[in-house]
Amino acid sequence: MPPSLPDDAPQQRRKLFIKSFGCQMNAYDAQRMADMLRPEGYEQAQSVQDADLIVLNTCHIREKATEKVYSELGMLREMKDQRSATANPLRVAVAGCVAQAEGAEIFRRTDLVDLVVGPQSYHHLPQQLRDVARGQRVIETEFPVDDKFAHLVTPQADVIARRGLSAFVTVQEGCDKFCSFCVVPYTRGMEVSRPIEAIIAEVERLAQHGVREITLLGQNVNAWHGLAAGGNNIGLAGLMARLAEIPGILRLRYTTSHPLDMDDDLIAAHRDLPQLMPFLHLPVQAGSDAILKAMNRRHTAAHYLDLVARLRAARPDIALSSDFIVGFPGETEADFAATLALAEAVQFASTFFFKYSARPGTPGADLPGQVPEEVKIERLARLQALVEAQRHAFNESMIGKTLPVLFEKPGRHPGQITGKSPYLQPVHVEAPASAIGHELDVMITSTSTNSLFGHRAAPLTLPE
Ligand code: SAH
Ligand code: SF4
Ligand code: F3S
Repeated sequence: MPPSLPDDAPQQRRKLFIKSFGCQMNAYDAQRMADMLRPEGYEQAQSVQDADLIVLNTCHIREKATEKVYSELGMLREMKDQRSATANPLRVAVAGCVAQAEGAEIFRRTDLVDLVVGPQSYHHLPQQLRDVARGQRVIETEFPVDDKFAHLVTPQADVIARRGLSAFVTVQEGCDKFCSFCVVPYTRGMEVSRPIEAIIAEVERLAQHGVREITLLGQNVNAWHGLAAGGNNIGLAGLMARLAEIPGILRLRYTTSHPLDMDDDLIAAHRDLPQLMPFLHLPVQAGSDAILKAMNRRHTAAHYLDLVARLRAARPDIALSSDFIVGFPGETEADFAATLALAEAVQFASTFFFKYSARPGTPGADLPGQVPEEVKIERLARLQALVEAQRHAFNESMIGKTLPVLFEKPGRHPGQITGKSPYLQPVHVEAPASAIGHELDVMITSTSTNSLFGHRAAPLTLPE
C-alpha cells in the first residue's frame, strides 16, 4: 500500500500558465510564483488552452497596462464557461500591481476571477489555491508586517540549472520617492531592504549551481542599505563588493536606480569592481527643471548631467540608458526642448519613453495643464527619432572593439554560439559549444538592428 498522503498534499499534476505584463520585478515574480507552485504539482503549460490555472501577473503603471487585464480576462470567458461544470474547472488568478491597487474591485468587475493576490503574498499561494478549490473566491493584498521578505524563495537546484547563467535577485522592494506620476509606492509599499545575509546566501547558492551573472533588483535598488559583518552601515556598493567575492560570479548589474541615491561609493564601485558591468539604467524622466520639480523628482537636469560626468570619469566605457515621460501636465514646448537637449547631451545607449498616463490617486492626475494626446504623440515621435539614432550610433561604435562576451546558448546557425556583451547586446560568434558558460573576448566586426557579430579575439583556451 502506498503511504497515505497528508490532506494538503498535491493530488494530481496540474498545468500553470503565467502571463506577465510589467517590469523586471514583475517578470521575476512570475518565476517565484512558478517555483512556489511546483511542489504543489503545478508544471508549466505550453499554452493558455492547455492550462488548469491561469495567472495574469499584472502591471498598473499606465492606464493601457491596467485595461489590458480586463481585455485578457474577457478572452478567457469561453474557456472558463466550458470547463465550469467539469471535474477540472479552469482557475483564474489576478496577481501583481493591479491586484494590489484594485483589490476587490476586480471581483466586482468580473465573475471570472477566483483569486486576487498582491505581490507581497505569493508565499501563501498554495493555501490560497486550496481555498479556491473548495469553492471560495480568495483575496489577499495586505502588506506583510513581520517578515517583509517571506515571499521570496530561492529556487531548487534543478530549476536554477535550467534557467541558465543569469539570475535576478531581489534586494529591495517598494519606494518612498513618490514621484507625482507614479503608482509604485502605492502598489509595492514602502521601501524595504532585504537583509545582507539572505542576499549573500541566495547568490552563493545560485553561483554553486552555475549562475555567473546576477542582476540585483529593486524598485529603488540603489536605496538598498544594510549592516555589514562588523555592524557598519553599508549601501549597495558595499553589498556588491561582498557579492563580487563569491566564487563563480563574473558579472553584477543592478536596476532600477534613482539619481538621488547615486552616492560617491556607488560611483566609485563602477571604477573599482571589475564584475560590475559598465551599463547603467538611470531614469531621468525629463530635462526641464520645472517639470522635474512638478514630478517631485527632487533632482535637476544639471544634477543628472553632473552624475553622468562623474560616472564617465570613474568608468570611461560606461553606457547609460534611461526612462523618459513626455507630456507631463504643464509641459510646454520649451520644457520638451530641454528634454531633447538633455538626451542630446548624454547620448544614451538605449532609452525607454512613455506618454504620460494620468493614474488615479497620484498627485499628477489632478494637476492643471494636462497635455492633449496629439501633442504627446508628436513629442514622443521626436524623442524617439533622437534616441533611436543614439542607440544605432552606440551599436555601430562597437565595431572594431574587443568586448567580453558571456556565452549562453547555441546560436541560430550551426557552429554559432550566442552570448551577451556588457551592454546586454546579443553577440553571435562562430565558436564551439564548449565555450558556452564562459566569458571570452570577442572582436566585434558588424551589427544588425539589435545584435552584434564578431570573432574570438584570441584562440579559444577555456579556463580549467
Ligand atoms: N522603479 C522604477 C520603475 C518605475 S516604472 C523606476 O523608478 O524607474 C518605469 C517607468 O515607467 C518610469 O521610470 C517612468 O518613466 C514610467 N512611468 C511611471 N509612471 C508613469 C505614468 N503615470 N505615465 C507614463 N509613464 C510612467
Ligand atoms: Fe515610481 Fe519614482 Fe519610485 Fe521610480 S522612484 S518607483 S518612478 S515613485
Ligand atoms: Fe508595473 Fe508594478 Fe512593475 S506597476 S512597472 S509591475 S512595480
